[in-house]
Amino acid sequence: MEEKTIVEKLTADFERIFGTEAEGVFFAPGRVNLIGEHTDYNGGHVFPCALTIGTYAAAKKRSDRIIRFASLNIRGGQITEISLDDPTLALDGSDPGPGRGADDWTNYPKGVIWAFAKSGHKIPCGFDILYYGTIPAGSGLSSSASLEVLTGLVLRELFNLDGVRQVDLAINGQKAENVYVGMNCGIMDQFASAMGKAGHAIFLDTNTLEYKYAPLDLKGMKIVITNSCVKHKLVDSGYNTRREECETALDTLKGVVGGLGSLGELTPEKFDGIADVLSETIAKRAKHAVYENARTIDALKALGQDAVEHFGNLMNESHTSLRDDFEVSCPEIDFLVDMAWKIPGVLGSRITGGGFGGCTVSIVKDEAIATFKETLTKAYKEKFSLTPEFYVIDAGEGAHRIC
Ligand code: GLA
Repeated sequence: MEEKTIVEKLTADFERIFGTEAEGVFFAPGRVNLIGEHTDYNGGHVFPCALTIGTYAAAKKRSDRIIRFASLNIRGGQITEISLDDPTLALDGSDPGPGRGADDWTNYPKGVIWAFAKSGHKIPCGFDILYYGTIPAGSGLSSSASLEVLTGLVLRELFNLDGVRQVDLAINGQKAENVYVGMNCGIMDQFASAMGKAGHAIFLDTNTLEYKYAPLDLKGMKIVITNSCVKHKLVDSGYNTRREECETALDTLKGVVGGLGSLGELTPEKFDGIADVLSETIAKRAKHAVYENARTIDALKALGQDAVEHFGNLMNESHTSLRDDFEVSCPEIDFLVDMAWKIPGVLGSRITGGGFGGCTVSIVKDEAIATFKETLTKAYKEKFSLTPEFYVIDAGEGAHRIC
């Protein structure tokens, strides 16, 4: 659906569901990460771009203290209602959880309201909000981060919250997810959703939040996302475990390198010289974090020099490392990546996002895209009885008001 059609539908459905006219319509995108996976909670670099798919919301302030949430994607737009004084929102400064409320999608926006209050922006009255998402659920393209960043944007715009910068939408979104939802993610997804720029990828130092935009003009090539349609569920998966393993590695390495603040501070050479103090599994996890960070720094250079082949090789190395050392891939994704590697005109292919399912990201020459889709669809169907989905993407704008 085109954006114009979505906005018309959303405003009409808002009126139907809430019986009043929306005050504004807003959007926050999903993201795809080109390289730099599982480095964002290790003080390393990431290299994502915002997508043009994401989450939309129509919203309006109320005069009482009630918030009404609804989503066109969930339970046919059924309303979930909560008062700003409800203890599960924890706006009185009490411990918010995780898991205070029911296990429900509204925990994401509720968590954002909590995070805003925590950072000094109390919401003065209730509001009605209707969401509509265009990111396939469970695809690993950050539908939850877009929901969080979007909710922050709506709060800022509805209540004129001065001093809330675009980057604060990302920071509060991550805080909501870490503390309120209980998923220990890094900053990458929320940052890309809030700070994305059309036609550009974002090279972000997650240690300092310094970033630069890198033009993504791949002459004669496209970025193609392949959805394995194997749903990933990060809270239930090994994500939090991986994060703990990286923390264990850091704690041990601190005993060897005085003042070490994060794995992202280590070069591969330095790491190789001290890795033998780590147990086998922990060493593999840390090796991925250190080498992936080095690859990401190298990838920025490669892109700047139009060395897309080298960029593609770095993506391939990233996949091997995520498969063998970090162990966050799965047979379906490995199959899609293996197949892609064999197709002429594919410069690089890897798993993207948190892992355990979700999507691959590939750089494919224009003339090879049709073969790429056909070959993968046929082989994947035969092997797993599943049909992959493809999105040839453009890098989109970060969160913004539409009208
Ligand atoms: C998920 C998390 C991110 C990041 C990636 C892996 O998407 O939300 O913070 O850690 O996994 O790179």
